[in-house]
Parts: sequence; C-alpha cells; structure tokens
Amino acid sequence: MPDRKPDLTGVSIVVLRGDPGVVAGLRSLGASVHAVSDADEASSALAETSPHAVLAPLEAADGAFLDFVKRHKDAHPGSFFYLLVDDAYKTVEPSSREVESLVDDYLKKPLDPDRFGGMLETNLGRPDTGSTSLAVIEPLVAKVKPYFLFRSSAMRRSLANLPEIAASDQTVLISGETGTGKEIVARAVHVLSSRSDGPFVPINCGAIPESLIEGELFGHERGAFTGAVKTRKGKFETANGGTLFLDEIGDMPLNLQVRLLRVLEEGRVFRVGGEQPVVVNVRVIAATHADLKKGVRDGLFREDLYYRLNVLRVSLPPLRERTEDISLLAVHFLERVLSEMGRVPPYPSLSAETIFILERYPWKGNVRELRNVMTRVATLIPPDVRHVFPMRLLPHLDDAERIDQPPVRVQKDRGVLVEIGTPLDRIEDLVIQETLKQTGGNRTRAAKLLGMSLRNLRRRLNSSR
Ligand SMILES: Nc1ncnc2c1ncn2[C@@H]1O[C@H](COP(=O)(O)OP(=O)(O)O)[C@@H](O)[C@H]1O
Ligand SMILES: [Mg+2]
Repeated sequence: MPDRKPDLTGVSIVVLRGDPGVVAGLRSLGASVHAVSDADEASSALAETSPHAVLAPLEAADGAFLDFVKRHKDAHPGSFFYLLVDDAYKTVEPSSREVESLVDDYLKKPLDPDRFGGMLETNLGRPDTGSTSLAVIEPLVAKVKPYFLFRSSAMRRSLANLPEIAASDQTVLISGETGTGKEIVARAVHVLSSRSDGPFVPINCGAIPESLIEGELFGHERGAFTGAVKTRKGKFETANGGTLFLDEIGDMPLNLQVRLLRVLEEGRVFRVGGEQPVVVNVRVIAATHADLKKGVRDGLFREDLYYRLNVLRVSLPPLRERTEDISLLAVHFLERVLSEMGRVPPYPSLSAETIFILERYPWKGNVRELRNVMTRVATLIPPDVRHVFPMRLLPHLDDAERIDQPPVRVQKDRGVLVEIGTPLDRIEDLVIQETLKQTGGNRTRAAKLLGMSLRNLRRRLNSSR
C-alpha cells in the first residue's frame, strides 16, 4: 500500500502564533489555516469561518484566548482544541482543570504536520488511516474468556490452532515473555477442552523452593518425613480428570524432571514415601518464559522431557510486537478498574497522543505491566476528566525517556523516515521492529531481511527491552 498523505481539503484550522513551517505544512495538506496572534484576531477569523480545529502553544494560550476557545467549542461541540507543549510534557502540570476540560489533546513540539493531519482526519471521522480503530474484538475465545482480548494478526496467528489444540488431549508447551498471557491461554485451552468440567490446577515451579516441589506435585504418605503427620495429595492427584498447569517449567530441578517424565509416560504417580502407584488422568500444559531448547543445550533441561512436553506448541508474541492490541487492552483495563471503583460511564477516553505513547513504549512486562500502569492511571484520575492525556500516563512509565525522542515516522509498508539527530540505536530498534511487523513477528525471516543472524536478532531484542 503506498504511503498516503493526509488530505485536509475543506478542513479549517485556527493556529495561534504558529511556527511558519507548521502553518505551511498544514496548508500543503489542503487545510485552510488562519494564523492568528491573539484572541481578537481569532474571533474575527471565527466570523469568517467555523474552524474544525484550534491549535495553540500552551504558553501563548492566555485567558482571553481560552475564552475564545470555550465560546467556539460551546457553539461547535464537534471541533477540536490542541495545545502544543515543550519538552515532552514535563512542563505541564496537569494544567488547570478548566484547561483540561477544554483541550482535546496535548501535542509535543515540534509538531509534525503530517502526523497531526492524520490525527485530525481520524478525529474528524474521515477515511480511517487504519491504525486506531477499536472496533474489532477477536471472538475466538470470547465465549470462554470474555476479557481475553486481542486483534493483532500476530496473536491471531499464534492462537489459530487453539480449538484443535484444546480438543486434543496432548501436552501443550506455551512460551512467551512474562506477562504475555500464558496462563490465560492455558485456562482457555482447559475451558475449551473436554476436561472443562474437571479442575484446572496451576503450580508455579519457579515460586516454590526446590525441596518442596516434589511433595507439592506428587504428594506424600504419612510418615514419609518428619512432620508428615498425614497423607497428602499432590497437585497431580488434585488435577485428576482435569488439567495441570506447570508454570515456569524451566525452573524445575533436573531430578524432578526425570520423575515428571515418568508420570507423563506412565499416567501414574508415586507419593513421596509411597510404594503403591496412584493412577492419574491429567492433561499437562506447561509454560516457560525461557528458551527451553537453550536449557537443553546448557544441560539444565532434559531433552527427553523437552520433546515430551513440546508436542503442541503455542508461542505468544511480546506486546511490543503487536501494537494493535495495546490501545484495546489499555481501554479495557482502564474501564475495568473504573467500574470496579464504582464509577459510572461515560469513562474517559485515551487521547490520540496517549495512544501514540502507549504504542511506542517497550512494555518489558507485557500485558501485566500495561494492566498495572492503567490501574494506576484509573485510580488517580479525577472524576470529571474526559480524556486521559499524556501527563496522566507518563509518571507511571518507568522507561518514559525512551519515548521522548525525535519523531520518527513509519510509512506504512515502505520504511522508516528518521529525523536528523536520532540516536543510532533507536534507528536500529525501529527498523528491527518494523521489519518484524512486516514478517508478522517471524524472527527467522526478519533476521534474513536484516542481514543478521537469528541469534544476534534475539540478543538484540532481549537487550533493547
Ligand atoms: N490478551 C489479554 N487480554 C486480557 N488480559 C490479558 C491478556 N493477556 C494477558 N492478560 C492479563 O495480563 C496478566 C498477565 O497474564 P498471564 O496470563 O498471567 O501472563 P504470563 O502467565 O505469561 O506471565 C493477567 O492479569 C492476564 O489476565
Ligand atoms: Mg504467569
């Protein structure tokens, strides 16, 4: 698809003390721009035309100008008011509540006319540029997990075989960084399977001390060790007729891996201190954030167990490789928390600039981190705020300075346009991310296109997080 410049023909914009480049840029997109230097001039412009949008630098928007905007917006509720701020919003205290109730977004200087034009097109309901429509929610697993949300093609591909996987009774290995939704997928597999009436029993092999995992998994007989005053069932027995979810399987000690393999092959367990096997009917789903094959190479994970677990495989892409899901999930978490707090709709929406930032943040903790950030935003937002602006989000992002960099434009399917002065490693990151998007998250193909080894690409992705 060729890169499309926004078309602002017929759109009228009042620009207060605008940078000449911005004014010219907007005009070149077809907008009719009224450049004004104060509220009086703005009011006379208003007499001639009714602008769709008003753009002003924060420091120049004095009381008189804000009054002008207020009158204009009262008369034309469908129009937009944007404030330009210096230096990544740092100077903007969530400004006076009056301003906040008036403004539709805060944009960072220098303003990029093309990007602003695209945003205006979307906000004015013109032909969609394809990026931020919230309309599609994947119905695949919606019937079992109504809050399990995604719309990215990367997730769709990862979960394409989920119904067939659920229908089979084979072991499943789910891999993905922390917080990508491994447990939620394991639960979905269980609920969609014929075992859905049975129990779903999770156990986190990484969270339990090594010495206790054995008893947790297999149970123990009375008197098996000091303190074992009565017989106790392990998770395998508890999960009988259902599904056992072995989370962080890579953390399981080697000696237990041997026992686990035997249980999987033989379908029976021996409790600690027990002589008699107990037959169990359990489906095992394992999850790992680590590369188990590497574990095998390093002698930390048994190869035979690896092949036994790896019959069916689901690999979940990190959130930064599925940007289409980010705003969908962010809105969902925001609204969920607000409704739990007893707040009534309408809930505040995310401003376009806020979405822009969310989609560029690296999300090392993936969906879990996004959920936590949106929980903080929701908890702190005053009741009458209509939009979540960047200033309400940025304090909760640990890595915010990564976003605060010269604008870099991605031209759909054509490449990346980089401003002079962009740090090299940022350029490389971007080219890598965009290439991954092109290949639908396929790292092998991306590595080939980028002329680097898969190993180097992996290392790069891990270190840039
Ligand atoms: N696609 C999704 N839709 C809604 N919530 C999600 C999604 N993916 C993850 N979550 C939520 O994010 C958090 C982390 O997910 P989890 O399955 O525990 O990740 P993992 O096991 O990979 O660390 C959970 O609260 C989960 O409900
Ligand atoms: Mg987990």
